[in-house]
Amino acid sequence: MILRLSVFLCLCVAAPLAAQPTYSRQVSRIMQAKCQTCHRPNDIAPFALQSYDDASTWAEDIKRVVGEKIMPPWKPVDDLSKFRGARALTDEERQAILDWVDAGAPEGDPADLPEPLPDKGEWVLGEPDLVLQMSESYRPPRGKDMYRCFVLPTGLTENQFISAVDVLPGARGVVHHVLLYTDTTGEAEKLDAADDGPGYTCYGGPGTSQSVGKLDASNLSLSSLLSIGGTLGGWAPGQRPEPLPDGTSMFLDKNARIIMQVHYYSTRVTADDQTRLGLYFSKVPVEKRLLWVPIVPLDGNGHISMTIPAGAENHEVKAEFTTPPLFLFDVTINTIYPHMHLLGRKIDVQLQRPREDPGQMIRIEDWDFNWQGSYTYTEPVKAPAGSTVRLTCTYDNSVNNPKNPAPEPKTVTWGEGTEDEMCLAFLGITFDHENLLPFSAPTSKRRK
Ligand code: HEC
Repeated sequence: MILRLSVFLCLCVAAPLAAQPTYSRQVSRIMQAKCQTCHRPNDIAPFALQSYDDASTWAEDIKRVVGEKIMPPWKPVDDLSKFRGARALTDEERQAILDWVDAGAPEGDPADLPEPLPDKGEWVLGEPDLVLQMSESYRPPRGKDMYRCFVLPTGLTENQFISAVDVLPGARGVVHHVLLYTDTTGEAEKLDAADDGPGYTCYGGPGTSQSVGKLDASNLSLSSLLSIGGTLGGWAPGQRPEPLPDGTSMFLDKNARIIMQVHYYSTRVTADDQTRLGLYFSKVPVEKRLLWVPIVPLDGNGHISMTIPAGAENHEVKAEFTTPPLFLFDVTINTIYPHMHLLGRKIDVQLQRPREDPGQMIRIEDWDFNWQGSYTYTEPVKAPAGSTVRLTCTYDNSVNNPKNPAPEPKTVTWGEGTEDEMCLAFLGITFDHENLLPFSAPTSKRRK
């Protein structure tokens, strides 16, 4: 009781101060937590927000983008605690920034400043355990969409479990996004050898027999899903790497080559690119393998198919995944990667557990291709056997969509080009019954 009373008193005293936020006391702390991941030298934001000078120079713009919820970029409308690394501002943080600008952006007492964040260098998660890079730089042709696959040998002598990946684009102006696949067939190197220059053109996927593009009903078996698990996720502008929960990892065969599929989009300028990939190995014993399962729209014959009529303003495409084969077993969904291209407006994923009402997995109401990424659940989602995942994508293929890449609206179908569309959600799942730990491992030592 005494404790409660004193907390109460403290709040009373602090309230009048909080009404006049200063840079040193409040705003600097919010910027450390919610802005500096990108607004620091050599990262994707165009300027740093690391000092009073930075913040006061940009104060009016900060007011606009924070007030309109453009910054920090964070798309899911789900509650903030649902995903790890959620970077949206709380209502209190937003209000503190707006009040601060309105009060004339006061600096306050520099003695109140927090310690600067440690400089982690280029890699947000610190130095990776293994850095791979394109063997030589590549200059994409100007004015063209280009999907180019680069084959990266890992040099590993043992199989590895990967808990996080990060990508550092060489030329940020032309690297649109990066997807990572693995290949244990040796096919990727042959494709590379047959194509001039570094890498090879790989429009609809990495072109190997293990690729997602080969997915259709005739091979939609558990084993085909496990080999589609031959992906390591991806990177798109704005995405921060999120390590998997302890005990869950992606498997990397020591003989696998990593195929880095880079989407170059160099409309006006081009540049030499040499993108790097950082791999973080699991530091704790691994209990479960993460597999990436794609949810895609299928036609009656089980082939991937979707059509968005020319001019349609509010066109829905639906996809659904159910038993068998996946939800024959109880699974846990750890991460989700929703994906559409430029006509996409909304994307919604629901999980229907047997005998329950559908629950929201993720919802994005103003889709922006430039701010896509994979989202890791704070509390991984249980999907018992018999569950169904439903994906709904909404597109605007009318003249009113300023992002429509075609000069005139035209019928749009599935494909990997910018003028094609996708309605896709990758689920990063683990099987609940899987336990890779040695039989004798005592439970208490399994986790940190
Ligand atoms: C995930 C990365 C990221 C985070 C986090 C982020 N920004 Fe940005 N910001 C950017 C990028 C990139 C741009 C360049 C414009 C664009 O591409 O949208 C930008 C642009 C801006 C601009 C200029 C806008 C304009 O219209 O000229 C302001 C102001 C800004 N950010 C403020 C903030 C503030 C304040 C925060 C934190 C509360 C923040 N940003 C968090 C990436 C980020």
